[in-house]
Amino acid sequence: MPNRVIVGSQWGDEGKAKIVDFLTLYADIIVRFQGGANAGHTVKAGDQEFIFHLIPSGIMHENKVCIIGNGVVFDPKQAILEIKDLEKKNISVENRILIAENAHIVLPWHIASDKLKEAKAGKSAIGTTGRGIGPCYSDKVNRLGVRVGDLLDIKELKPRVEALSQFRNEEFEKMFGAEPIDPGPIIEEYLEFGKQLKPYICDTVSYLYDALKAKKQIIFEGAQGTILDVDHGTYPFVTSSNTVAGSASCGSGVGPTAIDQVIGVVKAYTTRVGNGPFPTELSNEIGEELRKIGGEFGATTGRPRRCGWFDAPVVRKAAAVNGLTHLAITKLDVLDTFKEIKICTNYKMEGKELQTFPNGLTQVDLCEPVYETLPGWECSTAKCRSWSELPPNAQKYLTRISELAGVKIGMISIGAKRDESIVLDIN
Ligand code: IMO
Ligand code: MG
Repeated sequence: MPNRVIVGSQWGDEGKAKIVDFLTLYADIIVRFQGGANAGHTVKAGDQEFIFHLIPSGIMHENKVCIIGNGVVFDPKQAILEIKDLEKKNISVENRILIAENAHIVLPWHIASDKLKEAKAGKSAIGTTGRGIGPCYSDKVNRLGVRVGDLLDIKELKPRVEALSQFRNEEFEKMFGAEPIDPGPIIEEYLEFGKQLKPYICDTVSYLYDALKAKKQIIFEGAQGTILDVDHGTYPFVTSSNTVAGSASCGSGVGPTAIDQVIGVVKAYTTRVGNGPFPTELSNEIGEELRKIGGEFGATTGRPRRCGWFDAPVVRKAAAVNGLTHLAITKLDVLDTFKEIKICTNYKMEGKELQTFPNGLTQVDLCEPVYETLPGWECSTAKCRSWSELPPNAQKYLTRISELAGVKIGMISIGAKRDESIVLDIN
């Protein structure tokens, strides 16, 4: 079985967790490599529903090891909450969660700074999840960050937190007229988190290197989506990490040669949560219907997601920047009742035809989607378990998506449960 990277191909919330949970059946290790508790990954197992923000979605399977890689911005408080919740629901975490000692930690200054900056930005706010992601990554790159391993040693933790707090408190007072945060009690609190998390903290890079030599199968679980990538997305309306497949390598400390497949998870339509451009957005009753049927509300913030038709230029860009080998198409069942379904095949920009999603915001604003209308199938796909069981119009819709993206379909999801899946070709 191949080592797979699973990434979002749109603006996040594509249903990555469901696909990761399903493919974990064929894997040994699941690694998160970027992002943090901004992710909201929903897994339905039996009658229980779990929303993970940090712990990899593969945790629902016994005997699989879940790793929080060095590229993640790690909120210890959130991780402890998730671990306790799993234990309460009798899911064993012992020897199954490993946290990279060189991942950076999210501190209260990061969360406060995220919220203060957003509040001050007013109309031009990004609409972040308020989880401190941007400020944590910026301190990492600014060499002011604090890492997971530091939680285990007061000699490391104290001076680093003090240096960071000095910098951030000055920002709070001067830029925002906000109260500073006293580092003393935070250092105490985070040392305590360190004690609780000690059994999980280790050198995950060495662990993965040994696992690869032992031919263990690895899934690299992406968070967010390609068009939220800090380089390739709708900057500045993006998240603060590289969400694309290449990030799996540096965010977990595994060389790119270890990766065999890149699966792009694609919702059968498009959604976006937070601000920023969205060419196929439907601000009408059709958008409302997609939101209602698809249950399109953010798993992290509860915000209603913006909804629109499938956007091929977005997915073509995802195919290019991730090197997608397969598509996993999710939430096809949400379209079951539509009489007609539209697909944006390309854009028109100042009279010219454009095939891929442009880089600049001004260019995106100028893009007018060009639509093709396909007949709906107007029946339930929920019970379909093979391609041939799908209604012909659903087959046509999927074939067209694959054709426009230039990537073959590996899997189709027609419901949140593990067995509500159709596997075509994931080898
Ligand atoms: P999953 O992994 C959808 C969006 C936020 C905001 C922007 C920046 O569940 O697909 P941030 O808090 O990251 O600084 O916010 O990114 N965003 C997501 N949108 N799904 C996510 O994760 C997201 N994580 C962040 O709404 O627009
Ligand atoms: Mg989500």
